Amino acid sequence: MTTPTLRLADDSVTTATVDALVVGTMSGKGGPRLLPGSAEVDAAFDGALTDLLAMLGAKGKADEVIKVPTRGAISAPLLIATGLGEVDGQPTSEQVRRAAGAASRALAGTARAVTTLSRIDLAAAAEGTALGSYAFTAYRSRNGDGPLGQMDLSVPSASSAGARADLARAVAIAEAVTAARDLVNTPPNDLYPASFADRAVTMAQAAGLRTEVLDEKALRRHGYGGILGVGGGSSRPPRLVRLHYAPATSKAKVALVGKGVTFDTGGISIKPAAKMEEMTMDMAGAAAVVVTTVLAARLELPVEVIATVPMAENMPSATAYRPGDVLTMYGGTTVEVLNTDAEGRLILADALVRAAQDAPDYLIDTATLTGAQIVALGNRTQGIMGTPEFRDRITAISQQVGENGWAMPLPEHLRSDLDSKLADIANVASHRWGGMLTAGVFLSEFVADDIPWAHLDIAGPAYNSGSPWGYTGKGGTGVPVRTLAAVLADIADRG
Ligand code: BES
Ligand code: MN
Ligand code: ZN
Repeated sequence: MTTPTLRLADDSVTTATVDALVVGTMSGKGGPRLLPGSAEVDAAFDGALTDLLAMLGAKGKADEVIKVPTRGAISAPLLIATGLGEVDGQPTSEQVRRAAGAASRALAGTARAVTTLSRIDLAAAAEGTALGSYAFTAYRSRNGDGPLGQMDLSVPSASSAGARADLARAVAIAEAVTAARDLVNTPPNDLYPASFADRAVTMAQAAGLRTEVLDEKALRRHGYGGILGVGGGSSRPPRLVRLHYAPATSKAKVALVGKGVTFDTGGISIKPAAKMEEMTMDMAGAAAVVVTTVLAARLELPVEVIATVPMAENMPSATAYRPGDVLTMYGGTTVEVLNTDAEGRLILADALVRAAQDAPDYLIDTATLTGAQIVALGNRTQGIMGTPEFRDRITAISQQVGENGWAMPLPEHLRSDLDSKLADIANVASHRWGGMLTAGVFLSEFVADDIPWAHLDIAGPAYNSGSPWGYTGKGGTGVPVRTLAAVLADIADRG
């Protein structure tokens, strides 16, 4: 993990000794417009900066980065104009975050820069800068371009207590997101259930959390049939990790559950070879839950958080579970396995039942659960299901933080599609229509009726196999850490 040093600065940006100065642009009718907050930069270019940018082809669109050699107009030898797109009144935080991210990607290899985006939205500029310059270099033996070294965030007063608190919070959030990305990006030969559990425990203990790890013997003793079934085909046995943040004063108790399949071959119902390597990301939900629980402690949120994180590797082998097997889940429900590739819901079912035993006020699970999520909503929109009121609350929050969830239904009639010829329920339907919803309906069978519950299917948004955009590089994105963190903060505020 590499992120730049972020620092508040209140000296002049036109005379600062830096390698580059970042300003924002917006798309206007006749061409780009300068974002408010850079008047003295424009003045240093004799008021001709907008014309200069237009001449270079700038439109002010999102993800547009234009580089201008300054030739002495300002101290920085390079000016970077980063687009926010169409701005309606005030720019949104997400517009600022994205523009800061695009600029910081363009600054890879630069030692030090200063930005005026922080004058519009300090936290968003800080988060976007930190996330945009993230690079996962742990497995490179040769040095490439390093990331941006330091970004000065221009603010009216660098000693303002409010600005310092905003920056500290933004840095904590960005560090949580990059920690999740690191876990997702770590290859499956190094990140398997036991090593993932170790890393989770190390992070949690450093933040003062209580931890508990159930190994395969403990899982057997307590009857975790879903986790044991899915993990049984691997030489690297499954785990259930529990992390507990219990602050002195607490507004509510929140249970978090995340799917931790460290590699998903599909098992005996094996996946095609093409793109199978991407199934290293099938533990992104678990990664998000682990780092969010640690973040709650770092931010000292007045909310009790208990994470229940099942970890397993889904492999085909002589010891693997089979299509046709019936598993007895934690709590006693029986499940007929019709497809071993629908493994996420099986390990989550065990974890959801365990999580409810703590009598939480809210229960949230997140998982790279279905390809159908990607078919329905694409790569940048998570599907959010659950108890309608809580589902809608989380959906609204996810949109505020720029992670763009969308509420999806759990139609009751889908339940009969999961009827089994011999067990209480089957793990898949006989057709693929509405697969994201069917998976949600399956999970709902394992959620106690009286707990407000939300299920975030992040199959697409958790991992970027396309080109970088905004503050999102290739690989693990860290979604939905910022949604979960904002939900915990909202519960801390409003109960
Ligand atoms: N991990 C996959 C879902 C997935 C697919 C995540 C693509 C990210 C990208 C999950 O375990 C899976 O295999 N789901 C099956 C379910 C089916 C067998 C009912 C799927 O979506 O095909
Ligand atoms: Mn699968
Ligand atoms: Zn999976």
